[in-house]
Amino acid sequence: MTNALILGGTGWLSGRISQRLQDDGVDVTCLARGSRAAPGSAELVRGDRDDPRVYEALSAREWDHVIDISSRADHVIAAVVALGDRAARWTYVSSVSAYADDVTVGADESARLHVAAKPGDEYEYGPQKVAAEDAVRTLDGRALIVRPGLIVGSGDPSDRFGYWAAAVLRAGSADVLLPPTEGRTAQVIDVDDVAAFIATATATGAINAVGAQHPLGDVLALFRTATGHTGGTVSAEEEWLVEHGVEYWAGERSLPLWLPAEMTGFMARSNAAYLANGGFLRRLEDTVAEVVQDERVRGVERERRAGLTGSEERELLAELRRLPLR
Ligand SMILES: NC(=O)c1ccc[n+]([C@@H]2O[C@H](COP(=O)([O-])OP(=O)(O)OC[C@H]3O[C@@H](n4cnc5c(N)ncnc54)[C@H](OP(=O)(O)O)[C@@H]3O)[C@@H](O)[C@H]2O)c1
Repeated sequence: MTNALILGGTGWLSGRISQRLQDDGVDVTCLARGSRAAPGSAELVRGDRDDPRVYEALSAREWDHVIDISSRADHVIAAVVALGDRAARWTYVSSVSAYADDVTVGADESARLHVAAKPGDEYEYGPQKVAAEDAVRTLDGRALIVRPGLIVGSGDPSDRFGYWAAAVLRAGSADVLLPPTEGRTAQVIDVDDVAAFIATATATGAINAVGAQHPLGDVLALFRTATGHTGGTVSAEEEWLVEHGVEYWAGERSLPLWLPAEMTGFMARSNAAYLANGGFLRRLEDTVAEVVQDERVRGVERERRAGLTGSEERELLAELRRLPLR
């Protein structure tokens, strides 16, 4: 492969894909509005995908590999129409959120998907991904649809996985508040493993890009070990956390990676196809070590997009300690 076009390419995952391709000697062109520079020596073509003529500058060329990471079906459909004939290979980055079933443990790529979004529907991430996948599937025999689970690693703009590094680092010898972990799994994949798979895979069809299934409690314990946390842990019950306005999964005032008890399958999907097609999974300990280092550099007290602030956590812990012993 000599050239690749990334629709995106300046964001977190897409920037890592761009870097990986360049490391492999591929000439990379990125299409983006230009809010960030293109990594390395990639060419940046500036354009807004809300403008359907944006692909004109790119359709005069032939591409060995086009990679699209958009979560807007209209953007993906327009790109397939404009550039589909110019591409020898096409990879679309979808998500496990395309699946309708978050309960079945071990489900593979044949699991039922959401109903695809239609033009004019209110925006919903999963149905948009499904409509985008449908467009990419028309490039039969040339297209790979990658469905990542939670992507983690240094530089993660969502601040979810890194919250746990920040929480134990800022606690030091004090206690840290944990969600209920019993019966819950965590299934994450390192951003550079996803990027390497997208850059090198030759498979077509749909493939989950998900890591091994670990008990959630073990994953949270890895952060304590990696940072030398000497304080204790205090687990709160699901109902108590919900009553106290603590959110699941992501965002402000949340406990990241914690999911409602009934979502048993969301972080417990099959990665058999990923592994059979050359997908690599580094050791979770190595990703955790890198994330801890990244959080130290970025600052554990910085404003975050996910998790509890230090004062929110201290207030919740104080309230939990006032509860009568059961
Ligand atoms: N994070 C996770 O755990 C997770 C899990 C499953 C799947 N995923 C999928 O992984 C992918 C994440 O990719 P990423 O990290 O590279 O995303 P990102 O950091 O949000 O970057 C988005 C890229 O698209 C460009 N872009 C956005 N709007 C545009 C527009 N209107 N016109 C032209 N370019 C536009 C951005 O550049 P400009 O802003 O300069 O235009 C940037 O290059 C997504 O497909 C997401 O659904 C993520």
